[in-house]
Amino acid sequence: MELKNSQTCKNLLNSYVAECLASERYDMMAKAAKQIGKYEVYEALSEVRRNECFHAEAFREKLIPAVVDCDVKIDAGLPFRENGDLMHDLKTAADIEYDESLNIYAGFAKTARDEGFPDIADLFELVGAVEHCHMLMLNEIRSQLCDDTMYRRGTPTKWKCSNCGHEQTTEEAPVRCPLCGSDQGYVKLRM
Ligand SMILES: [Fe+2]
Ligand SMILES: [Fe+2]
Repeated sequence: MELKNSQTCKNLLNSYVAECLASERYDMMAKAAKQIGKYEVYEALSEVRRNECFHAEAFREKLIPAVVDCDVKIDAGLPFRENGDLMHDLKTAADIEYDESLNIYAGFAKTARDEGFPDIADLFELVGAVEHCHMLMLNEIRSQLCDDTMYRRGTPTKWKCSNCGHEQTTEEAPVRCPLCGSDQGYVKLRM
């Protein structure tokens, strides 16, 4: 079967659009996190955004040979439901990642394999695995923001300021970094 006549071609196109929209969604969320001083959350969401950009690029690379002469029309929804409500957006994004990883990309991979495109099936599976990690990370961020444990662990914990590199082991992250004066939003757990 030729890729341009396959269901896999349509799935690739939808996935490409979904990844472009996801990149926009995380850009908005990262900026919302920065606005409330959660710089480490900003960095984490910016990294997710970069991941989604790469996913879009990977799908595009597979798609271009099939659609280069086609008149493709794309009908897609907005990448967000609310703007500025980070907790709500974290939940919405995690739900989307869950659906992508366990339902959508898993199904697209099966279709691609059935239609004789094993390399595209592998791509859907690899991207789906990343989306699963995104879901776990978003849920973890949301839960830490919810119960206020992002900078408070209750046991001696090693913290590192991502601005100047200062490290200290305390139950709570310093409110202000003693070395550079950055606020708590810059501090991350030192692994
Ligand atoms: Fe993605
Ligand atoms: Fe994702």
